[in-house]
Amino acid sequence: MRGNDLLVPARESPDASVTIGELLQRAANVVDRVDARWILQSVLNTDAAFLIAHAEQLLSTDQVAHFRQMLARRIAGEPVAYLTGERGFYDLVFEVTPDVLIPRPETELLVEMALSKIPSDRKCNVLDLGTGSGAIAITLARHRASTCVTAVDFSPGAMAVARRNARMHAVKNVVFIEADWFSSFTSEKFDVIVANPPYVAAGDPHLEEGDLRFEPLTALVAQDNGLDCIRTIIAQAPGYLEPSGWLMLEHGYDQADVCRELLAKAGFTHLFTRPDIAGTDRVTGGQYE
Ligand SMILES: C[S@@+](CC[C@H](N)C(=O)[O-])C[C@H]1O[C@@H](n2cnc3c(N)ncnc32)[C@H](O)[C@@H]1O
Repeated sequence: MRGNDLLVPARESPDASVTIGELLQRAANVVDRVDARWILQSVLNTDAAFLIAHAEQLLSTDQVAHFRQMLARRIAGEPVAYLTGERGFYDLVFEVTPDVLIPRPETELLVEMALSKIPSDRKCNVLDLGTGSGAIAITLARHRASTCVTAVDFSPGAMAVARRNARMHAVKNVVFIEADWFSSFTSEKFDVIVANPPYVAAGDPHLEEGDLRFEPLTALVAQDNGLDCIRTIIAQAPGYLEPSGWLMLEHGYDQADVCRELLAKAGFTHLFTRPDIAGTDRVTGGQYE
């Protein structure tokens, strides 16, 4: 049972003097309460329900020391997901390391939009450009068993994490390719292409804030005021889409209009833009006739 190590009687760990509830209470004075819980769950290899049910349980000295170490790193700004090595996305949990962008809740919209275009009753070819941890590709593969998903990233570190995530979730219908966007393809055609490319402008002050300070710049920043990767993908996608295939991209809060212009210029129709849970325009796409 997960968290069994917590059930060691207090007399076997003579230095233990703090309970789960007390430690979380104290930590909440210096970091976000939810962050503190995630960190303690990781230290104890347990889940939230266990922490609640065992709030009076004494912790060992080692457990408290390990927690304090991780807490100090969190106070220094390190993202919780890099500390714990995992992040939930859609309905799965993914391994994350500093080699990959931490999957964001707003990206779940891209998954939903893609699923709405991928039939569950016939084979479909789907391409995920800039797969990072593999969160989008693997989620799509899990939800559409008869679909073949190709996942591309130019980062060897990201590819290694994505492959481990695919193994962890036992998906057999994802192929990983280390490449610069479409450069490894010749005659391949896809029914749906999804991409969450880097779209932050170089020098954007947000890069100096929060989790972004610790994430790979190559996953975040694009030249041309954040539009370089979006332009490349939209311009090249028609060559790799089946007739009536869809391209959909996640983008920055102020990039929906330019995405629509670029899509229209490249010959896409049935253009759409959808807001994320915060009401910000987040995903734009279109169909290539
Ligand atoms: C914003 S992250 C998205 C990661 C993941 N798809 C997600 O949504 O969490 C962008 C990804 O694009 C990859 N990337 C950047 N430039 C690329 C290029 N020229 N070719 C292939 N992948 C690239 C980065 O390595 C990074 O993993």
